Amino acid sequence: MGNLVKGRGVDLSMEPLQLSFPRGFFLGTASASYQIEGAVSEDGRGPSIWDTFSHTPGKIEDGTNGDRTCDHYYRWREDIELMKQLGVNAYRFSLSWSRILPKGRGKINNKGLQFYSDLVDALLDAGITPFVTLYHFDLPQALQDDGGGWLRRGIVDDFEAYTDAVSVELGDRVKHWITLNEPWELAWQGYVTGEDAPGLKLGNNAALKASHNAMLAHGAAVRTLRDNSSDAEVGIVLHLNMVEPASDRPEDVAAAHRWELCQNRWYMDALYREGYPAEMTKLYGKEAPEVIPGDMEQIQEPINFLGVNNYRRSVVATGTDLPPVNMKRISPPGEYTEMGWEVHPEGLYKILKWVHTNYPVPRIYVTENGASFTDEVTPEGRIHDERRVSYLREHIKQAYKAMREGVPLKGYFAWSTLDNFEWAYGYSRRFGVIYVDYKTQNRTIKDSGYFLAEVAKTLRR
Ligand code: FCB
Repeated sequence: MGNLVKGRGVDLSMEPLQLSFPRGFFLGTASASYQIEGAVSEDGRGPSIWDTFSHTPGKIEDGTNGDRTCDHYYRWREDIELMKQLGVNAYRFSLSWSRILPKGRGKINNKGLQFYSDLVDALLDAGITPFVTLYHFDLPQALQDDGGGWLRRGIVDDFEAYTDAVSVELGDRVKHWITLNEPWELAWQGYVTGEDAPGLKLGNNAALKASHNAMLAHGAAVRTLRDNSSDAEVGIVLHLNMVEPASDRPEDVAAAHRWELCQNRWYMDALYREGYPAEMTKLYGKEAPEVIPGDMEQIQEPINFLGVNNYRRSVVATGTDLPPVNMKRISPPGEYTEMGWEVHPEGLYKILKWVHTNYPVPRIYVTENGASFTDEVTPEGRIHDERRVSYLREHIKQAYKAMREGVPLKGYFAWSTLDNFEWAYGYSRRFGVIYVDYKTQNRTIKDSGYFLAEVAKTLRR
């Protein structure tokens, strides 16, 4: 019998599956600076676009902001202790650019950099490998004010200088670097739908331009990281969903194909093939980004790994003509999370196989996977989040299956370590394997955290 939580009988085991991860496999949790740190105007941190956006009335579902959130800037030692209890051997977190360079460029704020340096040291002492994301949505506001942030091509130089500043300091200890988190979201949700910072509602061209500049910045950062952290692994994180047509009808199949080009292949082909898919640039016509000689080479600067963020699949129907703006998503019957996202573990298996079959990716990490469900705290102070346990269990099984079939999967990170500020949803959605009481800042490991601890026991140390 598996290891059962007392009193409720939640099965925390992976049985009947016997997990046997290869030595060196990473099991961790993930987070992002603005979502957990708080301390937004402390120790010289400059404002980011998420400070501005979250303080704009009407932008955040529950009217909150990240001013304090999990107070991780002050409670990071306790948070590392909790990670030790989870037994994980890796932690993915992001750096706040404006904590290090308050105006986005120029003089380094040493206190900001020191915070991350101390964090890295403490993680290493705890036997937890840091995976550092350079950019997870929180652009310094000063760079947004200067020519529209990612719309200005010169931002590539700023990102390069920022990368240089942090990797000179941390590059001796950080051996896993992620340049960008989800460039697709950065571009479309920030510059077209306006649902995320900077909250602009411009046309397709703006998103494509922002996205292209971000990818150029990625390439420039890879080169810089090679110089400053020569023996490190470097990669990028994409949000990839398995795409399926709503039916076998040719119109639905064609719509699904366009969606796959827009979200998955736009980046995968740029990184690993001939460039942005020609079929898609033709569809965007005049709105397609300007690509000048040398751009694709820069974007294709060789990387060591691909990070895959995956939560659900995309079932797409006709009507999706020029995605993503007019995407028609179908919600098949089944289980859904509080985000309204379908629970479909097989989608993770399929997307990992899709990457491996179609692209020469030597190492893959699942850099985010998790679920938001309403949590109840029992009178004994426990959180029996059975649905999250089940979500994680089924997804880990699928990832494991892909790995056994030859996908070079080298690690899995659950989103998220702590409950946190879920962007435009504020605190109304909880993703953590550790519960946060925002009033008291008390943390409690949920059953899903104990489940991860069971999985962590199978790692070979
Ligand atoms: C991803 C983001 C992450 C988190 C999850 C739920 O798109 O990278 O910060 O918000 O979604």
